[in-house]
Amino acid sequence: MRIERYEKIFMALTLVVLLAALAAIGVGVFAAEVHLPAPAGRVDPRQIRRTAPFDQPGVREVAPGEYEAVIIARAWAFEPNEIRVPRGSTVRFRVASADVIHGFLVENTNINVMVIPGQVAEVAARFDRPGEYVFLCHEYCGFGHHQMFGKVIVE
Ligand code: CUA
Repeated sequence: MRIERYEKIFMALTLVVLLAALAAIGVGVFAAEVHLPAPAGRVDPRQIRRTAPFDQPGVREVAPGEYEAVIIARAWAFEPNEIRVPRGSTVRFRVASADVIHGFLVENTNINVMVIPGQVAEVAARFDRPGEYVFLCHEYCGFGHHQMFGKVIVE
């Protein structure tokens, strides 16, 4: 079988591109130590209402200007769906699902996580500007997905 010269060149180029891609993945995963975010904790979705801190969902001040918001995500609501904090607060959200996969996104912040059953998602943001920040589920979770939202009210 005879291989044309251009064909050989293309085969060589394909190999180069493939090796470059594998090398890039290798560098990204091993050398640069890229990790997937690890869950901040674990919670059995069936036991969530009996497991601290999710037995008491809500917001509490843990230090001056620092708040912890414990939120249960379930089909199709967040509990609680309204959180009030004073301006300048840093809020650490701890979100876990009581059933299926949900998402948690807070507008005008960099918060955007998946809420995977069995895992506690932990994210934080500082709220310097007063106003309302809508948070919502961004993983399709069924019939009522579109009504799964709430808000952070910064006073
Ligand atoms: Cu929960 Cu979509």
